[in-house]
Amino acid sequence: MPVPDSGALVAEPDGVLGVAGELRVGQVEQKRIAGLIIGKESMSAVTLALLGAGLRGQSYARHAVAAGTGRVIAIAEPDPYRREAAAAEFGVSPDQVYADWTDLAAAGRLADAVIVATQDQMHTEPAVRMADLGYHILLEKPMATSEDDAIRIADAAQRNKIMLAVCHVLRYTPYTQTLKRLLDEKRIGRLVNVQHLEPVGWWHHAHSFVRGHWRRQDTSAPMLLSKSCHDIDWLIHLFGQTPAKVSSFGNLTHFKASERPPGAADRCVDCPLEPTCPYSAKRLYLDCLADPGRHFWPLSAITKNRTEDGVLEALRTGPYGRCVYACDNDVVDHQVVNMEFPDGTTCSFTMSAFTPMEHRHTRLLGTHGYIDGDGHTLRLVDFLTGEEENVDTNAGAGPSAGDGHGGGDEALTEAFLAAVSTGDPTLLSTDAAESLASHRVVWAAERARTTNTIVHLDERAPR
Ligand SMILES: NC(=O)c1ccc[n+]([C@@H]2O[C@H](COP(=O)([O-])OP(=O)(O)OC[C@H]3O[C@@H](n4cnc5c(N)ncnc54)[C@H](O)[C@@H]3O)[C@@H](O)[C@H]2O)c1
Repeated sequence: MPVPDSGALVAEPDGVLGVAGELRVGQVEQKRIAGLIIGKESMSAVTLALLGAGLRGQSYARHAVAAGTGRVIAIAEPDPYRREAAAAEFGVSPDQVYADWTDLAAAGRLADAVIVATQDQMHTEPAVRMADLGYHILLEKPMATSEDDAIRIADAAQRNKIMLAVCHVLRYTPYTQTLKRLLDEKRIGRLVNVQHLEPVGWWHHAHSFVRGHWRRQDTSAPMLLSKSCHDIDWLIHLFGQTPAKVSSFGNLTHFKASERPPGAADRCVDCPLEPTCPYSAKRLYLDCLADPGRHFWPLSAITKNRTEDGVLEALRTGPYGRCVYACDNDVVDHQVVNMEFPDGTTCSFTMSAFTPMEHRHTRLLGTHGYIDGDGHTLRLVDFLTGEEENVDTNAGAGPSAGDGHGGGDEALTEAFLAAVSTGDPTLLSTDAAESLASHRVVWAAERARTTNTIVHLDERAPR
C-alpha cells in the first residue's frame, strides 16, 4: 500500500535532501548523450522507480532529473524523513510513495526502470523481483553479498531480457575512458603488468568501515567486496580478461581494542585524548559543518540536523561518535591482491586505509611504454622515443561520493538512461554476466586471503 501523504514536508531549499553539492535539479541544459540530443523537456525521459532514497539513491535520481533524461515517478523508502523529502523533491504522486520496496513491487510495473540503492545485503531480492516484473535495473554494487545470489540476479536479468547495470562508476569516468582508449590503441604496446593503489583515506575509512555501514562482514560484506569490487572490476576492464589465479593477504591491524591508547574513552565527546587523535569524530564532523562540499557526504550520513548541537548529539548517541578502537568492526584496514591472467600478464592491487582520501593511483607497464595515472592526468612515456606525453582527462571532480566519484556517477546515470531510452545495451560498459564475472574474482581473492591459498578461477566463468 502507498504511504499516506503527510503533505507537510517540502525539501528544505538548502537541506540535506534538497541539494547535492553543486547538483541542482532543473538547471541543466540539453546534453548530447550517446549521439542523441536529450533535453530536460524531452518526451522520452525514462520513468524511474527508486528503491532506497538514501545517499546513493538520491544522487542517481538527481543526476537523472538534472540531465532531463529521467523522471522519478515512484519511491520506496522506510525512513519517513527521507521518503517525504525525496517525494517532494522529485514531485512523486502520493499514491506512488511506498514505505518498503515490496509494497512498490506489489503494484506491478510502474516505470521503465528501477534504481536499486538499498544497502548491500538488500540487493538480491529486489533485483530479482524487479527483473521478473520487466524493469530495467540500475543496481548498486556490490551486486550481491554471495556468489549464489549474484548468480540469481544475473539469471533473472537474462531470463527477463532486461538491461541490468551494476554501479561500477569508475568505468564511466572520462579518466577511465581515456585510459582504456590509450591501451586499446596499443600506445604502450602490450599491457604486461599493472600496479594499482586504492587510497581509501584515514578519515573515510574511520567513517565508513570502522564506525559506519560497511564495518562488519556479517551486516555488509568483506572490504574487498563492499569497497574494492570497483577496483577489481576496473582492472579486469583494463586488461580485457578475467584472471586465472589470485592470491591475497590483508588484516585488520589498527582499528581494534588492542591498539586503543590507555585512557581513551568510548566516545570522542568524552575522551581526554580527543585533541591528539587523528580519528577524532568531533574534529571530522564539526569541520564538515564549515564546508558545504561535505554536507551531503559524509555529514548527512550521521545527522539531518546540520548544526553544532545536531552533530554533537549524533556523536553522543549514534554510531559515528564511537572511539575507533571501541567499535564492533571486523573488516580489514589494508589488503593486497595479486592476479595472474590466462596470458601470463599480472597485476597487483593494494587497498589501504592509511592514506589521504584521493583518486586511485595506477602504473600500467607495457612492452613499448608505460602510463602513470593519478585519477586526473595520464603520463605516458614511450620507450622508443623517450618522449613523455601528459594527457589531462578533464577529471575536475574529486574521488568521493560527495564529488560524484570523478564524474562517474553522472556518466553512469546518463549511459543507463540512454541505453533504456534507445533500447541499446551497448551504451553500457557491462551487463549482468560481466559484473558477475568480476564479482567472482572478488570472492576468489577473499577465499585466497582467508584460506591462505592461491585460488584458480574457472576460466569458463561468464564474461
Ligand atoms: N557505486 C558506488 O560508488 C557506491 C558508493 C557508496 C555506496 N554504494 C552502495 O550503495 C548502496 C546504498 O548506499 P547508501 O550510502 O546510499 O546507503 P543509505 O543507507 O544511505 O541508503 C539505503 C537506503 O535504503 C533504504 N531502505 C532500507 N530498507 C528498505 C526497504 N525495505 N525498501 C526500500 N528502501 C529501503 C534505507 O532506509 C536507506 O535510506 C550500498 O549497497 C552501498 O554499498 C555504492
